[in-house]
Amino acid sequence: MWKGRFARETAELVQQFGESISYDWRLYKHDIAGSIAHARAQMKAGLLTADEFGQIESGLRSVEADIDAGKFEFKTSLEDIHMNVEAALTERIGPAGAKLHTARSRNDQVATDTRLYCRAEIDVLSAGISDLQQALLDRAEKYADTVLPAYTHLQRGQPVTVGHHLLAYVEMLDRDLGRLADCRKRLNISPLGSGALAGSTINLDREAIAAELGFDGVTRNSMDAVADRDYIAEFLFAMALCGVHLSRLSEDLILWCSAEFGFVTLSDAHTTGSSLMPQKKNPDVCEITRGKTGRLLGNLVSLLTAVKGLPLTYNRDLQEDKEPLFDSVDTLKLTLAVNAEMIAAMEIREDKCLAAASDPMLLATDLADWLVRQGVPFRQAHELVGKAVAESVKTGTPLDQLDLTTIDPAFTAEASGVFSVETALAARTNPGAPSIDNVRAEIERRK
Ligand code: ARG
Repeated sequence: MWKGRFARETAELVQQFGESISYDWRLYKHDIAGSIAHARAQMKAGLLTADEFGQIESGLRSVEADIDAGKFEFKTSLEDIHMNVEAALTERIGPAGAKLHTARSRNDQVATDTRLYCRAEIDVLSAGISDLQQALLDRAEKYADTVLPAYTHLQRGQPVTVGHHLLAYVEMLDRDLGRLADCRKRLNISPLGSGALAGSTINLDREAIAAELGFDGVTRNSMDAVADRDYIAEFLFAMALCGVHLSRLSEDLILWCSAEFGFVTLSDAHTTGSSLMPQKKNPDVCEITRGKTGRLLGNLVSLLTAVKGLPLTYNRDLQEDKEPLFDSVDTLKLTLAVNAEMIAAMEIREDKCLAAASDPMLLATDLADWLVRQGVPFRQAHELVGKAVAESVKTGTPLDQLDLTTIDPAFTAEASGVFSVETALAARTNPGAPSIDNVRAEIERRK
């Protein structure tokens, strides 16, 4: 493509080192859509006849069909998807193909392709997140009234329901959806027409090209447009954080599957055995989800690191944006799908949850609240209940079986009324709190 200035072929090792076609071939549909829009603008500007445009369009469509069918031969010597497509076009249609690159550079071309790619994949991932939310919501509904302990510091804290616990993840995934939508909105502008870095002396109708490609507008600065990879960083961050949420869910489920907790049974279809220990049933999907989150985080850091030292405008380092991007998209897509399937099939062991939630210690805070309602300041109430807890631990008498009146006269016989999980949950009626009515209302609202 640049043979005019060079006397020697690019060295074999440099071709091997610099090629991106082995992975950026995936952009072909976006590359071809961008080229057709660009060619149409060239025709409108009088640079191509209608016939030449027709040849370019059908030539590009035939290249696309061959790639679709796996019949296209990608050449490393042509570096990337942009040059592979353009060379094949010119080979097929002759002189008209050689006009396509007028008023365009691979710098604005690659920025266009990756924006289109991100936009399409955001839509696919968003659907994947919604499917997972649906699976969580379904389980939340089935186990809306199943009480289980909630933890801080991985120590039993207060009773909640399985429904409330699962809805917490639905909230996180909502924010992930919001971040993706926000990222999509910001990235949906067309860099085409920015050229290598300073636009072109041949002015094509940028707005028309943008409209044809479904962009909401055009970039406002040609230098920024070819150098900017913020949209990929944002997308990678949104995916990384979604991965972090899935990793936390995985960790909860890994604990819940253990004999020590025993709150959940994952389907045989979503667990694996051990080659040595016959009794094992391992939550590998959760563990791999947790493990894959490392890649999602690494991909974000990889891109930020590639960009951070770059002077304006395009630098070839930017080619390193694609592999992390593709890897995160592929990783998260599969992670969401397998988790949605696994969650949809998981069964909660309600007896185990109830047994754990029946620990009267979980209601120590409710006992302090009871004292507050009798007029005791909270700090004092906290101390009195603390004494009762210490007594329970020391004597081995469960908290709900102690004679509290011997601890302090502020306690009366009515105090023992707090030791009911049902009462405790029913009292938590404020917005966002886990009363069963609240949880059910939230499930209905979401449905
Ligand atoms: N394959 C390149 C990339 O991914 C396309 C842009 C090349 N531009 C250039 N000036 N060499 O970034």
